[in-house]
Amino acid sequence: MDIINVLPSPPQFFRLFLTLALSLFNSTINARHRKTLAGHSPAAFDVDSRTGFFPRQPLPKLPHTFDIWEDALRNADGNLSLGEDESETALAKREFGARWRETIQSLPVLDTSVLHTNLRLSQRAHYVLAWLVNLYVHSIPSSSDDSDPVHVPKSLALPLVQVSRHLGCAPVLTFADTVLWNWELIDPDQPLSIDNMQFVNLFSGTEDEKSFYQASAKAELRGVELLRIIDDYNSLPNITDLTSISKVSRDLGRLVGIIDDISEIIQSIRPLCDPHVFYWDIRPWFEGSDAKGPGGPRWIYEGVDDFEKLDLSGPSAGQSSVMHALDIFLDVDHKLRQRRYPAPSSENKRADHGFMERMRRYMPGKHREYLSSLAATPRPIRQLAQSTPTLREPYDNAVLALKRLRDNHIRIACLYVVTMSRTEPGARGGCPASAMIDRLRESRLSGRGPVRGTGGNELSLLLKAGRDATRRALLKDN
Ligand code: HEM
Repeated sequence: MDIINVLPSPPQFFRLFLTLALSLFNSTINARHRKTLAGHSPAAFDVDSRTGFFPRQPLPKLPHTFDIWEDALRNADGNLSLGEDESETALAKREFGARWRETIQSLPVLDTSVLHTNLRLSQRAHYVLAWLVNLYVHSIPSSSDDSDPVHVPKSLALPLVQVSRHLGCAPVLTFADTVLWNWELIDPDQPLSIDNMQFVNLFSGTEDEKSFYQASAKAELRGVELLRIIDDYNSLPNITDLTSISKVSRDLGRLVGIIDDISEIIQSIRPLCDPHVFYWDIRPWFEGSDAKGPGGPRWIYEGVDDFEKLDLSGPSAGQSSVMHALDIFLDVDHKLRQRRYPAPSSENKRADHGFMERMRRYMPGKHREYLSSLAATPRPIRQLAQSTPTLREPYDNAVLALKRLRDNHIRIACLYVVTMSRTEPGARGGCPASAMIDRLRESRLSGRGPVRGTGGNELSLLLKAGRDATRRALLKDN
């Protein structure tokens, strides 16, 4: 064999050499990997390299001492109805509901400290208790006077507050409880993926509710690649050389694709989750203590000192750590602290600027710490793009993709919440009495001011302010 003929031609040889050099460069980066976040790897913040903010495996069941909670949750499955629902099917479940709530009230107060050495069991305790609280509160039949505060019994309130303090997370149903921790594997021998997971707890028992969680989970899993991009960026030893800059540019391009995918996932919900079912049959179960707005009745956590200070809003995808990571990476200024253009409109100024920051208190503490460590990066990508002409456009493209996502999300949120708030709950099984319709419409709309999110905020002001804050990150306008 002629050895000269099997050697690569000079251009090919050069390409091979470059590939080798690049892969060496990448492996050096990967070796340094993950010492970037204040000296910790993402894993130290319970962020998995393959599943992101999801645990790799479903949460294990609690030990037998806590069977009373697990049993109560299993017994509730499909047997409770919304307290405000007076359809025939709902009324048929009332007797069971009354007995179930009596059982909850009579449960002993269990100490969760034995679970605290195990993160997954602590999360499981939060998950089970938080579901029990919302099932308890929202299955109580509406009284003629809905200004009465709701009492959450000690048996749920005390251990939920205890385990939440340990986890550093709000003592109430959160995005983690409904999405991140609410699944099991279809095939336990295969890894977690959107096709290999099924949601376990449902309030309404509808396919629509399942699809709602599924879309959120899909967005969250699509975000795992985004976390890798952020991590790669933070791991670059320096960002002044050409190779690093072209990697950042490529990754910003990949980011556009990921954000567009998440945007599509949000829109894909339309044929799978009926807006009317969402508004009248699913969403009421999510409401937190402040859903009725300022001045509305609050929940009383029995036996808990200073319960007024607890964070008790309902779950929201605004608590998705993936979306926060994206905002932090692109340096979206929700709090209007930077001088950016176009200047905030008067509506923007009236919006709740603390919403996104407040939503972080509803995340598992470790995930919140992960976000804080991202925010503490010594080299924000927006600044780098500002000072590097070749990165300006790729950066702006990523910001524009996020703005598009928020535009699409506003359309979905308006359809599912604002438009539906003007409809009637008539499609529920049976024919609801007109008194009930009147009461519901009244409680949802009149006298309560603007339509609110489950987080208790003024919905359209909030979402538009988020979209406009995103747009303000664009370099071409600044
Ligand atoms: C039927 C589908 C959806 C509806 C009706 C909906 C509705 C809402 C509402 C009402 C809010 C206001 C905040 C609050 O909850 O109080 C909100 C916020 C938010 N939602 Fe959704 N959402 C949907 C799907 C999703 C999905 C799949 C994601 C994916 C991550 C998502 C991401 C967000 C984010 C990040 C916020 C915080 C505000 C912002 O960043 O603009 N939503 N959503």
